[in-house]
Amino acid sequence: MSACSVPTVNGHRVLVIGAGGFLGANVALTAASAGERLVLHSRHGDAAVEGAELVAGDLHASGTAADLVRSVGAEVVLNCAALADVDRCEHEPSLAARLNEDVPAELAEACAAGGSRLVHISTDAVFGAAPGPYTTGSAPSPINVYGRTKAAGEAAVVEAAPDALVIRTNLVGWSPTGRRSLLEFFWRNVTEGHTVNGFTDVRFRPVAASLVWRVVAGWLTTDTGEGPIRHLTGAELLSKYDFGRRVATVFDADPDLVRRSTVAEAGLTAARTPDLDVRPSALPDDVDPSILDVDAALEHLSAVAASGYRRRVAAVRP
Ligand SMILES: NC(=O)c1ccc[n+]([C@@H]2O[C@H](COP(=O)([O-])OP(=O)(O)OC[C@H]3O[C@@H](n4cnc5c(N)ncnc54)[C@H](OP(=O)(O)O)[C@@H]3O)[C@@H](O)[C@H]2O)c1
Repeated sequence: MSACSVPTVNGHRVLVIGAGGFLGANVALTAASAGERLVLHSRHGDAAVEGAELVAGDLHASGTAADLVRSVGAEVVLNCAALADVDRCEHEPSLAARLNEDVPAELAEACAAGGSRLVHISTDAVFGAAPGPYTTGSAPSPINVYGRTKAAGEAAVVEAAPDALVIRTNLVGWSPTGRRSLLEFFWRNVTEGHTVNGFTDVRFRPVAASLVWRVVAGWLTTDTGEGPIRHLTGAELLSKYDFGRRVATVFDADPDLVRRSTVAEAGLTAARTPDLDVRPSALPDDVDPSILDVDAALEHLSAVAASGYRRRVAAVRP
């Protein structure tokens, strides 16, 4: 991948909520190396990068999210907290509603009242019932509790904080636990010589979690003329089976270790959308478009792993 400068948001204070999760930890690391002044929130205050302030707090109780925003007083609030486990959302719909709908609504109201700019992370899974492709102008059509609660959270954010950015994405990369991402699933198995199943009937447009901050920072500093909803999705629509084979190729493993399978065979709890053809928004001018290429993203993830990035992500939340 060609070089791409990492814009900062003018040295403003950035509160990262859910900094111990998959995306939060990646943002914490990459925003810290871009020179942002970070305040990292995690439930137990144990997500850390050098130089960042730390703040703890469970957001389950009503009012806690607004208190967090008020007490930190950041210029930018990036919400990476969620109940993002699709099957768990089916089993715990009230918890999903609190974290995916009510917390974003509270954050948006508090940001609007206090003059902070909210960046709320959402998902491509707000689509699926209506046929794609999906643009930022397409109406949400979720097919499971996760998608429905995330769509409701988006709507609440846009209503309460019209200057917010709502970013629908689909992520792959390295996580603090080493087990959060589809990339890690394929990588671990194929590099250890194990055969794994890859769905041929689910297609998506993934982006690397370690590249998200570059784009978000650009969108915060450049007016691209779009509204609050942005799609940070990959340039290519591919099946999870094809993605697994690409992972094997980039990491010098045998692509034939990835076996064709289907969602129907897997017996998962929540319905999965077969074709998440969520078309990417225009990138900020100073971001290299190759950032969205799946092969370039995999090369990037391989290169950063070789230079110790997996260890650094794990250290954000030991
Ligand atoms: N992963 C994907 O492939 C993907 C795809 C599309 C969209 N997204 C979106 O990206 C965002 C981040 O997802 P992720 O994959 O990074 O999820 P994740 O790894 O599960 O992280 C979620 C974070 O939410 C925090 N959280 C959960 N319950 C909380 C509570 N009661 N109080 C305070 N914090 C709480 C957790 O904090 P603690 O760790 O401190 O408990 C955790 O850090 C979500 O909005 C998700 O919908 C993810």
